[in-house]
Amino acid sequence: MWKPPERIKHPLLDTSWPSAEEAAGSLLFSPLKVGSLTLEERTWVPAMVPWRATEEGFVTEEILAWYERFARGRPGAIVVEATGIRDIPSGPLLRIGHDRFIPGLAELVETVRRASRGHTRLFIQLIDFLTIRRRPEPEKFFRRYLEITDRHRAALGGDLSDEEIHQHLLGLPDEKLEEILTPRELESLRKGYRERVTDTHLPHIRDLPRVLPGLFAQAALRAQTAGFDGVELHYAHAYTMASFLSALNSREDGYGGSREHRARLPREVYERVREGVGLDFTVGCRFLTEDCIEGGSGVEDAIHFGVELARAGMDFLSLSRGGKFEDAKQPKIGEAVYPYTGPSGYECMPTVISDQKGPFGRNIPAVTQIRRAVREAGFDTPVVVAGGIGTWEQAEGVLERGEADLVAAARQSLADPDWYRKTRLGRGEEVRRCLYTNYCEGLDQKHKQVTCQLWDRLDLEEPDLRLSKDGKRRLTAPPWDPERRA
Ligand SMILES: Cc1cc2nc3c(=O)[nH]c(=O)nc-3n(C[C@H](O)[C@H](O)[C@H](O)COP(=O)(O)O)c2cc1C
Ligand code: SF4
Repeated sequence: MWKPPERIKHPLLDTSWPSAEEAAGSLLFSPLKVGSLTLEERTWVPAMVPWRATEEGFVTEEILAWYERFARGRPGAIVVEATGIRDIPSGPLLRIGHDRFIPGLAELVETVRRASRGHTRLFIQLIDFLTIRRRPEPEKFFRRYLEITDRHRAALGGDLSDEEIHQHLLGLPDEKLEEILTPRELESLRKGYRERVTDTHLPHIRDLPRVLPGLFAQAALRAQTAGFDGVELHYAHAYTMASFLSALNSREDGYGGSREHRARLPREVYERVREGVGLDFTVGCRFLTEDCIEGGSGVEDAIHFGVELARAGMDFLSLSRGGKFEDAKQPKIGEAVYPYTGPSGYECMPTVISDQKGPFGRNIPAVTQIRRAVREAGFDTPVVVAGGIGTWEQAEGVLERGEADLVAAARQSLADPDWYRKTRLGRGEEVRRCLYTNYCEGLDQKHKQVTCQLWDRLDLEEPDLRLSKDGKRRLTAPPWDPERRA
């Protein structure tokens, strides 16, 4: 993973923990209305892909165990990982693009209800993404993928056959290729082909505004049928909807260019979803405070989007940052580019090796501005903050200062899924604190089953323990028994 050049190692934040009485009187552990439902507390486990679905996208026993483990900590809400809305092969990504996925998802809902004893509300994140190919062998790229154009002919001599042009290109040094290939062709050679929302010469990309509202709406209906409390529309990071919001979206069909036009499809998707599920089902979205890439959207854009999405009727606005393809590291041949490997990826999941600002709460100042603008526009839509928040003081402080309404913690919840419950019971000293070194994210990048370094080698002799595919790691955190004192 990319690290800021300053390479400053930040210690974990000092913290103290509340007594049970203090926790009971806190904002963090007080209820909040989100759409038509009430969360018992303002704690939130945001979406985290654990790579446990089948190759066909179905819920597995491992997925049930993963969410059951979070549910035992009884947070206010859990958002199920990014789940694909199309009925297309997507590798081991959880899917909701057909009714055949409903029974597995219904079991997931039931598992979380049971494990949290009804205390936790469950949302599911709905995602659409465009085609991305692995970085090819240069030979394969020139022979199979590169379409020979007049530009190549002009550079290499007009009377060569396509085969001769392939051969020539294959033998050229990098500087020469940089002169002859277009930036897009070079990118496909060096990182692998990647579609963009601006590729409107491709009919299926041109048609996205016509197709996506229906796909999201059907997926949301399935989520409702499966028993979820709501959906989170994934408008963040490197995926289709975030690319519509991005300042890099220069589409000229009324869905790109100005902020108003970039927000149009996200609004239309929301409207269609709402039409389908009605007012009693919670519908929110996750989007970016800042793209954190050259030419991308900044906080002024996000302020506009926040106000417009609140105006449209979103039940919550969850804010992340960065996580884009544009600045991602070059993958190895045979691997696909991964959006969390560049500076914008760092902004999304910062580690303790950082710059002056450090990894803790980096997103809070931008979230504060967006929330303020939403309030000034007259909307009370709850705002969720995430990014390097893992202590009691941080979480309660964010709420006390009115910087956000709900506090999401991904990695801290992975490190210790019981941390909310321990804190609420006045037993914060027992919290296993995340080190923010991103061992988990390294596994995610390789599409390996995600676990935490703090517990995945503990108590491996436990009976009936489910292990990772490499047989070395347990897949969920060891159980915590509140009856037993540490
Ligand atoms: C293993 C892993 C998988 C993630 N998967 C998703 C995802 O599916 N959707 C999403 O919006 N964010 C995803 N994220 C980002 C987190 O939701 C969160 O925004 C980020 O980790 C920063 O919060 P934290 O500092 O509390 O970990 C993932 C993060 C991790 C570590
Ligand atoms: S592996 Fe565990 S300790 Fe390390 S960053 Fe991930 S959750 Fe935190």
